[in-house]
Amino acid sequence: MREVGGTVAFITGGASGIGFGIAQVLARAGVKVAIADIRATAVRAAADSLAQEGLAVVPVELDVSNREAWSAAADHVERKLGAVQILCSNAGVNFVGATHKATCEDWDFALDINLGGAISAIRTFVPRMIANARGGHVVITSSVSGLFTGGGAGVYVTTKYALVGLAESLRADLRSEGIGVSVLCPGPVKSELFESTLAVRPQALASTGSVPIVPAGVKREETPIFTTAPTGEQIGRQVLNGIQRNDLYILTHPEIRPVLEARARALIAALPDEPVDPERVEASRPLLDASLYT
Ligand code: NAI
Repeated sequence: MREVGGTVAFITGGASGIGFGIAQVLARAGVKVAIADIRATAVRAAADSLAQEGLAVVPVELDVSNREAWSAAADHVERKLGAVQILCSNAGVNFVGATHKATCEDWDFALDINLGGAISAIRTFVPRMIANARGGHVVITSSVSGLFTGGGAGVYVTTKYALVGLAESLRADLRSEGIGVSVLCPGPVKSELFESTLAVRPQALASTGSVPIVPAGVKREETPIFTTAPTGEQIGRQVLNGIQRNDLYILTHPEIRPVLEARARALIAALPDEPVDPERVEASRPLLDASLYT
């Protein structure tokens, strides 16, 4: 989408951090923006701060894991702003802990929000975008944790890998509809993720083997990983570029290169050292289509 001015965007997890940064940048580029978030007070405050700049913004209180709530939220935004052409599925939660120690509640909590939220976003808005026949763009926020892992956050990593597969599949499926799809894979970004995860975790899902990423008593703002991180607004600018260029991957941290290379090398090295059977290649031609990546 080269021209975004005058279009309408729906951004989940828009009350703070990356989602709010995307909202800032899109709104200043002339996009009418709906920011949806489960934290009602925070999303209203975020919308107010953009409105004070004279920008067109509508706050929406939405729990992305509540499938039943989505169509009413979409109807509301369409009435207020018009048909949505840019969808940013960004809401997420993060906590750490050994994969094998995660409880069923940990899995439900993260899968329902991180993956379920994106699935509902797509199921709600993509059919509307197709029906409107004006094209559009979908951005799904994954993470560098959707591209590689060092261990210690298996639940989060599982959801974020799933989002990469979801975005790639959606991009292939929407090629003929004039709707682009990008997957955003940031490294550490200044945000409220650690606090918001605790704030949105229902009591019923809190008996857990996993813990918040910043231990009690440590000020997140003072940790090196936070002080050296880019802001949500900086990420928002990269997202706008990605939308305008229709990039498949929006990567934000060049320092991940050696890890990406090591993972790609490990995958290639795992291929069996045996001749390729041309008949088998022919039989599985659709599976071997690399056009999405080239
Ligand atoms: P944030 O806490 O500032 O923003 C996340 C927002 O999602 C919060 O406003 C929170 O209230 C909202 N949210 C959580 N559960 C929700 C639900 N059920 N329904 C609706 N809204 C909900 O944190 P941040 O970092 O901006 O997170 C945004 C996305 O970026 C997440 O998907 C996160 O996994 C991803 N990410 C963050 C990185 C970081 O270092 N901050 C790095 C890579 C990815």
